[in-house]
Amino acid sequence: MGFYTVSNVEDMRICVVMVGLPARGKSFISQKIVRYLSWLSIKAKCFNVGTYRRKVGPAHPDADFFDPSNKEGSQVRQNAVTEAVKDMMAWFSEENGVVAILDATNSTKERRRWVLKLCRENAIEPMFLESWCDDKELILRNISDVKTSSPDYEGIDPEVATKDFLRRISNYEKVYEPLDSDCDKDLTFVKLINVAQEVIVNGIQSYLESRVVFYVMNLHIRPRCIWLSRHGESVYNVEKKIGGDSSLSPRGLQYAEKLPEIVRKSAGDVNLTVWTSTLCRTQQTAQHLPYKQLQWKALDELDAGVCDGMTYEEIEEKYPEDFKARDDDKYEYRYPGGESYRDVVIRLEPIIMELERQENILIVTHQAVLRCIYAYFMNVPQEESPWMSIPLHTLIRLEPRAYGTEVTRIKADIPAVSTYKEKGTSKLGESSSDATAKFRNLLNGAPPSA
Ligand code: ATP
Ligand code: F6P
Repeated sequence: MGFYTVSNVEDMRICVVMVGLPARGKSFISQKIVRYLSWLSIKAKCFNVGTYRRKVGPAHPDADFFDPSNKEGSQVRQNAVTEAVKDMMAWFSEENGVVAILDATNSTKERRRWVLKLCRENAIEPMFLESWCDDKELILRNISDVKTSSPDYEGIDPEVATKDFLRRISNYEKVYEPLDSDCDKDLTFVKLINVAQEVIVNGIQSYLESRVVFYVMNLHIRPRCIWLSRHGESVYNVEKKIGGDSSLSPRGLQYAEKLPEIVRKSAGDVNLTVWTSTLCRTQQTAQHLPYKQLQWKALDELDAGVCDGMTYEEIEEKYPEDFKARDDDKYEYRYPGGESYRDVVIRLEPIIMELERQENILIVTHQAVLRCIYAYFMNVPQEESPWMSIPLHTLIRLEPRAYGTEVTRIKADIPAVSTYKEKGTSKLGESSSDATAKFRNLLNGAPPSA
């Protein structure tokens, strides 16, 4: 089932070559592609040439360094990209990488021809991805959001840094050659114009490339938030049973009544849409929310197959081998007649794509599904995501930022049972230090700017 299995992609090697002037969102897009593909178990890595440039050249170069007539600067920049490409090739061959992103401006035809040649010599499929933007206000906002705080401008006044960065852009403009549908018709490329107001796609070779294109076409950068909540405590939760389609417990109904107030406090007057699963407990939880609602089958809880309706203790007793196998590899383990976490991620892919397109969304769903969605936004590795603690009666607010997602957890003051099962036991509940460690409520990693 699903879009990708390892065998679909294991022979593929794609290099996404970013193209564009500074402050056009190339690192932002690169980071998102890597996060998306990694979430789908496709081995992806970004090679940010700015990081290499800082290693082989000056730590705080000013705009003159980027002047194309500056021979010394040009040599350092060529050394940096050469080092990045060397590491990228080693990653493909030694670590079986599938999608590498060469995150640099790659703004001249000469540079792109050089990358193209190296890719062809190494049996790597090159795909150029250009971000073209002439929205001056947006560029200035990008500079103030991410560039003035880049390591290049450490300790430098933001106003001075902004002026210097604008000069840096002018220096790149002297030699910038955008991708061109006529001259570059032999290349595989996608060109995003003013975010994705207009998109030009040329010569896509493979299914995986087309998925990457579809993903970047759906990205937007308008400010918005995503709220996540599990359903209120259910009758099955109280009885320690998994799965089923039970109603809310009295405390779960209290959470449903309180939810509109908690959401309003966090969201203010913004208009949002509520997505629920098709199961009774999420719809009961959302029943008092004064917003448009949509049900998604894809948001239903992980299907526990033959174990549906049992307690973990019963599973341990009746299916001891399965119980152990699940603890040993919770992400891959598939309940007989049911699903694994991997299966859930694959069925959630259209939800993630739609979430990228939408603005303010509140999702009311289930423990395993919420872990998978959270893992996408917070880049949580597969070995950790099925073990994350996501308690009942807690609203999670995710706010996408330039290079990561900010998380806030809002706990409703309504007690609920714990449905958390630690590894190696069939008892429910958790040691609080473990739970805190497992739940990443910090900003996720920010790449350095190129
Ligand atoms: P540099 O070449 O200096 O590394 P860059 O092109 O990599 O610059 P980023 O560091 O990724 O630029 O800039 C991040 C900012 O770009 C974020 O604030 C993000 O909102 C914005 N952004 C994301 N996508 C786009 C886009 N398609 N066009 C313009 N800006 C974008
Ligand atoms: O216990 C609540 C529940 O939503 C079950 O219906 C589901 O099987 C389980 O959580 C998923 O959590 P885990 O993957 O930790 O067993």
